[in-house]
Amino acid sequence: MGQNTQPNFDSVLGRIVVEQGLSTLEEVQQCVERQRASVVEEGTNPPSLGDLMVEGGVVTRSQLERIKPLAEEVGRGQQISGYRIIKKLGAGAMATVYMAEQLSLDRIVAIKVLPRKYNNNQQYIERFHAEGKAAAKLNHPNIVQAFDVGKAGEYHYFVMEYVEGRTVGDDLSSLGRYEEKDALQITIQVARALDHAHKAGFIHRDVKPKNIMINSEGVAKLADMGLARAESDREAAEAEKGKAYGTPYYISPEQIRGQLDVDTRADIYGLGATLYHMVTGKVPFDGPNPSAVMHQHLKADLVPPDELNQNLSAGICEVVEACMAKDRDKRFNTSADLLEDVEAVANGESPLQARMKFDIASLAALEDKADPAQQNPATDPRQAAGAPLASHPLFWLAVAGWVVACAAVVVAVIVANS
Ligand SMILES: Nc1ncnc2c1ncn2[C@@H]1O[C@H](COP(=O)(O)OP(=O)(O)OP(=O)(O)O)[C@@H](O)[C@H]1O
Ligand SMILES: [Mg+2]
Repeated sequence: MGQNTQPNFDSVLGRIVVEQGLSTLEEVQQCVERQRASVVEEGTNPPSLGDLMVEGGVVTRSQLERIKPLAEEVGRGQQISGYRIIKKLGAGAMATVYMAEQLSLDRIVAIKVLPRKYNNNQQYIERFHAEGKAAAKLNHPNIVQAFDVGKAGEYHYFVMEYVEGRTVGDDLSSLGRYEEKDALQITIQVARALDHAHKAGFIHRDVKPKNIMINSEGVAKLADMGLARAESDREAAEAEKGKAYGTPYYISPEQIRGQLDVDTRADIYGLGATLYHMVTGKVPFDGPNPSAVMHQHLKADLVPPDELNQNLSAGICEVVEACMAKDRDKRFNTSADLLEDVEAVANGESPLQARMKFDIASLAALEDKADPAQQNPATDPRQAAGAPLASHPLFWLAVAGWVVACAAVVVAVIVANS
């Protein structure tokens, strides 16, 4: 078995063994003492703490092999000066997130560390630093606060507020779905976060259940705001292959098409898709692979949320549908409009902005249908014959005469019978 050459690897390994409850601090300390006391011949390495712990029966070989990659990662993270890495919190498609102590301020933070492969992408690294710095200026109770970006050795990192709690993605995995009122409260808070960020010129581009954290007081916080995306949205989506809660489930049609002018309405789509999942327990579109899912975002009709959950109010369904219109002109114009409607539905009122959008969309659809005939009336005989007749004043005079005649007959019958 090869030696690990990182100076602090052994101490990290020992700490993880204790933190994971594999053995007690005393047992690990005994192994550390044995390591110190070992007589090392010149030119050879001292026994590793891992080997000593296996020999001493403190951990099994397979437990050691399982935690070694984690100890290596944490050891690497400890090279970030000014921070002490405490443990790994999780990993997504592009990075690993650690809990750490910021030594100067004596506070707990979360640090997202990028893998080294991103170092070759100079353009991305520049964006990562620029957007991270800009995001640090945002300040909102429903946004996971970005603190800093930096580089330590070969690793670029993003320091942010540590949120003790869980993600909406975790809840959906365990609960299936939320009650409507709970989903509305989360959506209100995320819409407030988006409103704040959008007004400051940020677009999130990846609003999804795994990026909404719920802290121990039940406050929802949008994570990864200001975290630049490494690939195009489509590439990022495809990189999610096989993941249960991957990006393609919430991505907007314009991001799938690779449009360069993606705007704040992509986030409205992402939040709508997230709300759909929260209240139905199902992603809006599913398929055997990311391409199939993305194809449906582009082409397939949405199964109305109340077909999957009959308890839903009409209002929430209207809101979801107005968020998830494939044509972004038919979505809420702004996150402020969305917020207004979600608050209305939460108060038992109607979502007026969504209705207005729906009315305008239906009018536009009617106009579209009418259009070809207007351009060339002779091509549609129904339009050519029907429209002029209904709009002719004599037509309405004849209708009025017919109504008066009918009334006269009715009166005559009544008089005759009395
Ligand atoms: N600020 C934070 N505080 C506490 N835990 C966090 C924080 N940010 C992320 N995490 C945890 O780390 C995990 C990984 O986060 P990360 O953003 O890397 O991936 P993701 O959002 O889950 O997925 P993806 O990479 O697909 O976007 C999260 O699921 C969450 O559990
Ligand atoms: Mg994330």
